[in-house]
Amino acid sequence: MTRILGIESSCDETAAAVVADGHRIFSNVISSQIDLHAKYGGVVPELASRAHLEKIVPVVREACRQAGLEYADLDAIAVTQGPGLIGSLLVGVSYAKALAWSLAKPLIAVNHLEGHIHAVLLEAAQKGEADRIEFPVVTLVVSGGHTALYIVTREPLASAAGYRYSYRLVGHTLDDAAGEAYDKVAKLLGLGYPGGPVIDRLAHRGDPSAIVFTRPNLKRARPYDFSFSGIKTAVARLVERDGLREEVEARAARRRAEPERPLDEVVAQPTLDLLASFQRAVVEDLAERTLAAADDFHARAVFVSGGVAANSLLRKIFVEECAIRGVPVFFPSVALSTDNAAMIAAAAYPKFLAREFAGRDLNADASLPLGV
Ligand code: KG4
Ligand code: ZN
Repeated sequence: MTRILGIESSCDETAAAVVADGHRIFSNVISSQIDLHAKYGGVVPELASRAHLEKIVPVVREACRQAGLEYADLDAIAVTQGPGLIGSLLVGVSYAKALAWSLAKPLIAVNHLEGHIHAVLLEAAQKGEADRIEFPVVTLVVSGGHTALYIVTREPLASAAGYRYSYRLVGHTLDDAAGEAYDKVAKLLGLGYPGGPVIDRLAHRGDPSAIVFTRPNLKRARPYDFSFSGIKTAVARLVERDGLREEVEARAARRRAEPERPLDEVVAQPTLDLLASFQRAVVEDLAERTLAAADDFHARAVFVSGGVAANSLLRKIFVEECAIRGVPVFFPSVALSTDNAAMIAAAAYPKFLAREFAGRDLNADASLPLGV
């Protein structure tokens, strides 16, 4: 059995997990900083790195404790090298390097986006469904920091029973990530942070055809690229045009006074319609471009991963559209959709089998690319 400790600190979660053989989760500990950043409506990088520094040691200890392991029992230490916030990444990378060096264990560098892709493979393996997955796979990684489309292929390793995975980037957002658009629209409407879950919930009570947003004009971009800054600006204009500002300010004030009370009864119908229309536009765009890539690259499966993959409408549309095409679609559970370290340990396992270890000079890279 190969037991890998994964460490993740690329954004606002300090996470550590022990995963055996790429799919048996022994522990998966996450210390979230959501409360710390909530009052700013987004992640404040300085605060994030300071909180990682405070949490990294207890979080790693707790992951080993829950796994019932001593550090000496680990076979390797895996860490997110990038992309992400540089100050945050450096905390995880420095700690993982020091731990690997002091224990004389191999160190494995993992790309955060590769982690999101392996979250799906990890759960498929847990359910005994790994053999159902055929390649190439089109993967949409969609979160607060990323919106990217990859074609994933794999080939058997010559040296061991495992695979080498390859990633080809075929599209990405030219401006905001989809989750970022959710968060900014929520902030604009006084709905708090993070925006995705609250908009997802409220959108069910609105009319998604109330407002038709202009589709982004991406003529000169690649067919699978995305853009979400236009829709955010359009929402800002509608708030002014439709006189929603007073309601937004009243809601923001009430949220400050009573943060625990649900927002449901203080969101008027025009705002609910705006949210439902926004959500439909974003989700349909994500689905349309991903499925176009799935058709064009003859995908045998579709993966959707990252925080926004928790969205209920997104899941519904992908399930329906993939059923029409006869292509299976896989989402991680909500717990493994958002940032976690189990996905980092899982992504490290094929590298462990291939003996792809990082040197002691490993450095964090805020814009580390995945694939070509
Ligand atoms: O993967 P993640 O935890 O962190 C990043 O790497 O960014 O994703 C967080 C993002 C946030 O922008 C949040 O608003 C969004 O995922 N999100 C959602 C939902 N749940 C979380 N967006 C839409 N619908 C949801 N249900
Ligand atoms: Zn992420």
